[in-house]
Amino acid sequence: MSNNPLSLTGRVALVTGAGQGVGRQIALTLAENGCDVLINDFFEDRARLLADEIANLGRRAVPIAGDVTDFEAVRSWLPKAAAEAGGLDIVVNNAGNAGPQGDASEQPKFWETEPSDWARWLGTNLYGVLNVCRAATPLLIERGKGGSIINIISDAGRVGEAGLAVYSGAKAGVAGFSRALAKELGRHRVRVNCVSLSAIMTPGVAAIISDPEVLKRVTRAYPLGRIGTPEDPSNLVLFLASDASTWITAQTYPVNGGFAVSQ
Ligand SMILES: NC(=O)c1ccc[n+]([C@@H]2O[C@H](COP(=O)([O-])OP(=O)(O)OC[C@H]3O[C@@H](n4cnc5c(N)ncnc54)[C@H](O)[C@@H]3O)[C@@H](O)[C@H]2O)c1
Repeated sequence: MSNNPLSLTGRVALVTGAGQGVGRQIALTLAENGCDVLINDFFEDRARLLADEIANLGRRAVPIAGDVTDFEAVRSWLPKAAAEAGGLDIVVNNAGNAGPQGDASEQPKFWETEPSDWARWLGTNLYGVLNVCRAATPLLIERGKGGSIINIISDAGRVGEAGLAVYSGAKAGVAGFSRALAKELGRHRVRVNCVSLSAIMTPGVAAIISDPEVLKRVTRAYPLGRIGTPEDPSNLVLFLASDASTWITAQTYPVNGGFAVSQ
């Protein structure tokens, strides 16, 4: 047994949308700290590439190609993948933005949109989290070892982002859902927390702010003088996944360089 409270040796985590960006780094950070990982992504090649990388670290990695908006599919693959990996202890709902095919750059004003425009935002960011939590919680409860669910939301959901109203609502919805789920699951020692991000340099964000002048303008909103890297949230996810945080549940923690405060 390790005396390091951050050690995840012997644990299994699911990370959704792990094929690139923040999710990819979360999966790597958990694996580097001893965790075996179920790697979900809509795109099979992304999940497989990362699984190979994690296997090279000496950890077990199970790639899962799947859309988190498809509840019946999630309910089918999750128990099988958990059984293959020897259980499930940690769930990181990371898949988000405009869904696998979507463009997450600024959208039209809400009053110019139609319900058909809202579906991809609500699908991956809200229903995807409900689907995965619904399929995962019986596994965590039956295992009887507690557990940690970490939902990646956005400061858009805490402070609002013009042009991203439905995304903001979906992420705020996840925060409210997580608080309630934490209360239902507390007696099973399953904790539920949210990590709220502002701009992180991921492939999608890099494409939007490739112009140095735009990057300079965006950076002005960050007291720490830079936008985030995928390592920034990954370190907090590691803490929330580990035994270093066993008395923390039902909370939302921003990782945002000071972009917006919480009190
Ligand atoms: N990057 C940022 O600046 C930023 C800011 C705030 C919040 N976030 C949140 O952080 C999380 C990760 O963001 P990112 O920028 O790293 O994402 P990204 O768009 O770079 O990558 C997301 C990955 O998830 C996969 N994915 C998307 N929809 C899926 C679905 N329905 N089922 C399965 N896989 C799916 C994609 O294929 C992709 O590989 C998201 O929840 C996002 O909303 C990101």
